[in-house]
Amino acid sequence: MKTFQNKVSVVTGAGSGMGRYLALNLAQEGSDVVICDINQKALNETEDLIKAYNVSCSSLNLDLREKNNIDTLVEETISNHGKVDLLFNNAGVVTASPFLEMKESDWDWCNDLNYNSLVYCSRAFLPHLMKEKESALVNTSSIFGIITTPNNTVYHATKFAVRGFTESLAMELRDDPIQINCVYPGHIGTNIVLDARFKKEILLTNGEYAKDSNGKPLTVEDVGSTFRETGMNPNKAAKIILKGVKKNKRRIFVGLDAKVMEIAQRLSPSHYIRIIPILNLLIFPYFLKRIKMMKTFYSIFKARR
Ligand SMILES: NC(=O)c1ccc[n+]([C@@H]2O[C@H](COP(=O)([O-])OP(=O)(O)OC[C@H]3O[C@@H](n4cnc5c(N)ncnc54)[C@H](O)[C@@H]3O)[C@@H](O)[C@H]2O)c1
Repeated sequence: MKTFQNKVSVVTGAGSGMGRYLALNLAQEGSDVVICDINQKALNETEDLIKAYNVSCSSLNLDLREKNNIDTLVEETISNHGKVDLLFNNAGVVTASPFLEMKESDWDWCNDLNYNSLVYCSRAFLPHLMKEKESALVNTSSIFGIITTPNNTVYHATKFAVRGFTESLAMELRDDPIQINCVYPGHIGTNIVLDARFKKEILLTNGEYAKDSNGKPLTVEDVGSTFRETGMNPNKAAKIILKGVKKNKRRIFVGLDAKVMEIAQRLSPSHYIRIIPILNLLIFPYFLKRIKMMKTFYSIFKARR
């Protein structure tokens, strides 16, 4: 796809992070946009930012975990814009906890949005996308859809599922004009950890909380803010994704960390966790920027042992 000019793009989870910047960059490049999010205030902010560009924008405040809301999203898109050329299945959430301690409702919250709603959205939009001469279905997995970490079962399960679903669908539709791309971001500085569901107790061992580098006990909010401050700028991430869509890359990796982790997984499918720190040394300047986050994760990891 050479241009987004005169296209109609739907972006889910457009109130924050990569979704917001995908919508803004698409609008800047001349695409009409349909944005949706569960967070009305955040969605309004994105809509206001889009007004700077001369495109038409529809905004829908909805919970994508409800199938009838996705049906509404399709109907509104077609009735307001007459067609849909690109769908970015971007919305996602995180919940982290040891598997046996995870509430079933938290498992369902994550699985229903990250995987089930993405599949339903794809099913509902595909017939419309396939009517166009040039269209794209862009699903966001994660580097955590390629490698795994402990205490993250449901997030990994959903992101591996998105990868399997998307890559299989891409093979199935390889002779159709529609392009199907799967996105694998590394660490992007967004609100996703601040909005995550994870218990304060994940930071606790033998009655003591993990500590930051100054010896102060870490809070869940500290972890979320550090995550946001130290990751790649989400606008930069969105630009990388859109460049990948223009080049029709089947797999779009976002960030050197994602590329390093993918290479580590290929080199050593069973022991990649051990070789990732060694490979990180090869990208030392980039790695330096992430030391604060690494220290935070190390404190949590230490606390859980
Ligand atoms: N940030 C990262 O480091 C990272 C890394 C790999 C993959 N990802 C994936 O990228 C995607 C975007 O993540 P982000 O980091 O920009 O997150 P974000 O938290 O900044 O944005 C996600 C948006 O989804 C919305 N949302 C949540 N639940 C919803 C629901 N039920 N219905 C509709 N909207 C809902 C939120 O309100 C939010 O605006 C997600 O799929 C995430 O899993 C993120």
